[in-house]
Amino acid sequence: MRCPLLLLLLGPLYTVIQAQQIYVKETLTGIIDQEAILPCTISSDPNIRVSQIMWEKGGNSIAVYSPQHGTHVSEPNRYQLLEPSPSSATLRILSLRAAEEGDYSCEVTLFPAGNRKATTKLAVIAVPQNSAEANSEALANGEEQTVATCRSSNGRPPSRITWQTSLPGNVTTIMTNGTNGTYTVVSRYVMTPTSQADGMPITCNIDHESAAVPIPLRLSVMYPPEVTVEGYDDNWHLKRNGVFLTCSAKGNPHPTSYTWKTADGSSLPPTVRAKDNMLYVDEVDERVNRSFLCEVTNALGSRAYRQDVLVREHAMQTQTNAGAIAGGVIGVILVLLLLAAIVFIVIKRKGLHSKQDRGTYSPKTRVFGTGKPSQEFTYQDDGELDKPLKGPGPMRDSGLSPSLGEDEDEEERLKYKVLEDDEEDERFNEVGPMLQLRPHPQIGAYLDDDMESQTDGSIISRTAVYV
Ligand SMILES: *[C@@H]1O[C@H](CO)[C@@H](O)[C@H](O)[C@H]1NC(C)=O
Ligand SMILES: *[C@@H]1O[C@H](CO)[C@@H](O)[C@H](O)[C@H]1NC(C)=O
Repeated sequence: MRCPLLLLLLGPLYTVIQAQQIYVKETLTGIIDQEAILPCTISSDPNIRVSQIMWEKGGNSIAVYSPQHGTHVSEPNRYQLLEPSPSSATLRILSLRAAEEGDYSCEVTLFPAGNRKATTKLAVIAVPQNSAEANSEALANGEEQTVATCRSSNGRPPSRITWQTSLPGNVTTIMTNGTNGTYTVVSRYVMTPTSQADGMPITCNIDHESAAVPIPLRLSVMYPPEVTVEGYDDNWHLKRNGVFLTCSAKGNPHPTSYTWKTADGSSLPPTVRAKDNMLYVDEVDERVNRSFLCEVTNALGSRAYRQDVLVREHAMQTQTNAGAIAGGVIGVILVLLLLAAIVFIVIKRKGLHSKQDRGTYSPKTRVFGTGKPSQEFTYQDDGELDKPLKGPGPMRDSGLSPSLGEDEDEEERLKYKVLEDDEEDERFNEVGPMLQLRPHPQIGAYLDDDMESQTDGSIISRTAVYV
C-alpha cells in the first residue's frame, strides 16, 4: 500500500526525474495580453557540463543560450530569456496570445551525457466580462419569451452558463467566436411567464477557469391589475355603522388608480363614500343592497372585482359564540383524555398479566367463577381516602392473597387471576376514586410501588387512582 501512495505523491515530479537534471513547471496558466514566465533550471553536477539550453515549441526554436556563444531569441519583441546561465534559462513571453497556448520544451545539451528535455504545458485563458439582466419587457400574455439573459463575453476557454430557479423554463445558449481566440456565450432563460413569476429569484451561474460567478436576478413580469375586495362579512344589516370595503390590487407596473362603481352602472348611492381604494358606509341602508365594483388600472389596462352586498333586515344570529365553542372543545378533550387513561391502565394491567402468564393459559379460554369467593377489599371514597385502610392481618402476601393452601394447584391460582381480569373491567366502570386491594401474585410488588405500609400495620395509597 505504501509504494503506490508514494508514487502518487511523487507523480508531479516524475517527469522531472525522467528528465534528470532539468526542472520546469509541468503546467502553467497565463492570461491573454499578459506576460508568462516559464522557468527552466538545471541542477549543477561537476561531472557534467552544459553546452546549450534551448526553448522550443512545436519543433521551432524560440530562444537559445550557450555559455560560449551567448543568447539568441527568435522574436525579441515577443520572447526574452531572463538572466540565462548554465544553471537556468527562464523564458518570458511578453504578451500572451491565444495562439501561444501549447507545449514548450526546455532542451538542454549536456556533455558528455547528451540531450535532455522537460516540457511545460502552457494554457492561455482570457477572463470574460460577465453580465446578466432580467427582461423588463416580459409580459404575462401566455406566450413564451425570454425572461432573463446572461452574457459572458470574450472568455477563453468559453464560459459554461447554467440557471438556477424554481420556475420551469428552457435555456437557449449561443456561443460566438470573438477576436483573439476568445468566446462570447449568451444564455437566455425562456418561459411562459405568469404574474406569479414577477419578482421571483433566478440566478445565472457563470463557470469559468478564472472564476465561478453567480449573478442573482429577480424576474420582472408585467401584468394587468389583480384585484380583490375585503371587508364584507355577510352581516351587513340595516342601521349598522362604520363598515367599509377595502380594495387591494397587485400589478406590474403598479396600479395607478382605483375606481368604485356599482355593478349596474348607476351612480354610487349617497350613503357610501369612495376614497382611493376604500369604500366607506357610515350607516347601512337599502341603497347599499347592491353589487359594487372596484376597478383598478395600470399601464396595461383595467381590471375589476365585483363585491355583492346583501343587506339584511336584522343582524344575523350567530348560533355559536366563542365561549360555547371553547367549552365544547375542552369538554371533548377531557372525555378523550379520560378514555385514553382508562385504555392505558387496562392495557398495562393486561400486558402485565399476559406477560407473566405466557404459555400457561389462553385468555380465550377464560374460566369465570371458581366456586370460591374472590377475596377482595374495595375501598370506596367517601372523603376518607387518606385514612388508613385496614386489612385482615399482616399486609404482605400472606394476608392479602386468597387462602390458597400449599395443596392447591397452579390451575386454581390461574383461575383467580382470570376472575380478577374480568372483575377489573367492571370496577373501572364505577365512579369515583378507588383504592383496591385484591388477591394477586403480583400484589407484593404492587404494594411496594403504590402503597405505603404504616407502622400500625395499615397501608395508605400514595397515588390515588381516579377512574
Ligand atoms: C470558432 O472556434 C472554434 C474552435 O475554437 C473553431 O472550430 C471554429 O471554426 C470557429 N468558428 C469561427 C466562425 O471562427
Ligand atoms: C336586499 O335585496 C335582496 C334581494 O336581492 C332582498 O331579498 C333583501 O330583502 C334586500 N334587503 C333589504 C334590507 O331590503
